[in-house]
Amino acid sequence: MKRIDLFPITTKIENERLSIAGHDLTNLAEQYGTPLYLYDRATLDAAALEYKSALASYYPAAASITYAGKAFLCLTLAQWTQSHSLTIDCTGEGEIGIAVAAGVPREKILVHGVNKSHADLKSAIKNAATIVVDNLSELHRIKDLFTTTSSPFPDLWLRLLPGVTVTTHHTHTQTGHHESKFGMTREELLNAANFCKENNLPIKGIHFHQGSNFRDPEPLIPAIEMALDLTKEIGFSGEWHFCPGGGWGVAYHEDELPQPLVESYVRGISEAVIEGCTLRGLDLPHLHLEPGRSLVARAGVAMYRVGAVKKRGDKTWLLTDGGMADNPRFALYGARYSCLTVSSPSGEGGERVSIAGPYCESGDIVIEDLLMPNVKEGDLIAIPVAGAYHLSMSSNYNGARKPAVLMLEEGQVLQMLRRETVADLLSKD
Ligand SMILES: Cc1ncc(COP(=O)(O)O)c(C=O)c1O
Repeated sequence: MKRIDLFPITTKIENERLSIAGHDLTNLAEQYGTPLYLYDRATLDAAALEYKSALASYYPAAASITYAGKAFLCLTLAQWTQSHSLTIDCTGEGEIGIAVAAGVPREKILVHGVNKSHADLKSAIKNAATIVVDNLSELHRIKDLFTTTSSPFPDLWLRLLPGVTVTTHHTHTQTGHHESKFGMTREELLNAANFCKENNLPIKGIHFHQGSNFRDPEPLIPAIEMALDLTKEIGFSGEWHFCPGGGWGVAYHEDELPQPLVESYVRGISEAVIEGCTLRGLDLPHLHLEPGRSLVARAGVAMYRVGAVKKRGDKTWLLTDGGMADNPRFALYGARYSCLTVSSPSGEGGERVSIAGPYCESGDIVIEDLLMPNVKEGDLIAIPVAGAYHLSMSSNYNGARKPAVLMLEEGQVLQMLRRETVADLLSKD
């Protein structure tokens, strides 16, 4: 497997020039500047279709795909979700605001959040079809709003903390283990269900999310079993909804290729749900999958320009114009990446380098220890699998201005977000 296989599906190397969807990356960098983020529409579409076709093959009842907006959300991306009839998972009032401004209808908005504020809940009640309830205190606040709000009121799903760990690349991306801050224990969830019944709150489903960037669906099965046991105990009336979250992984480095198959994830979940329901005499639920990373990560590429090369003992640093302000994933969880030089993308390495950004933090690292061909000051580098949890976790650290973001299609470049300016930094003062 080669490095180029990490890039979007339309990526090509022709005459030592790297292009995506027919657009030459050197030309884009010259026109829009760097750091620059690119999304390939064809790769986004292919990922959504992979989920749809796997669900059609393996799950015989109603099923929906919810895009976890936390991976990256802006108006264009929210509109893209509607071209595939996806629901959007919005964490709180801010993401709900983006979805609403993009024209996403109420029935396609679902709201998450581990400690939703009053404003988050009010916005959810006004704009969303579903609220996933994280805890009992939140449920009491929802009940207070319920009595004062007219219909339609969102469906409520209860978020379970299964207490089961899945293997992810870092403990900070695990959310379903015993000590996790997310969701309700079995006992708390049963109390919440009783509270909903006593107060005529529209309880319609169960949700859990085990973590992010795992590659084996097997550890989800005990959590699915536990959720189905609870479902049986609660006894939903009418159609019920079941969501085992998202979290399916992607390959970030050539060592991790081939890409984990969405099909095996969807198949694993579908089979466990069908078997578990049959055993318990339950009707099949409306199944919801909630991917973020596996829908958008591979479509994204980050482009940086190298401004200096430093030798420090055995180490060679390439210093670039982007780093932890647009991609904090190394600093947060030691994430691994790979990259190609844009001017000689088929060049074989060379030497082992580390790549760091321009910010005043030693943790401002993009890549540690990667074999690269000879890279010089002024060269452009392209980092694949940059579409998820980069820009949505970006900051203005050191006065960084967030990069421009382009959507690429054959014959068309759409600027989804313009580069921030100093005036943007000052606009809130
Ligand atoms: C509740 C919930 N659902 C879905 C996701 C999406 O996870 P991923 O992007 O790994 O698919 C997350 C990510 O943290 C989440 O917290």
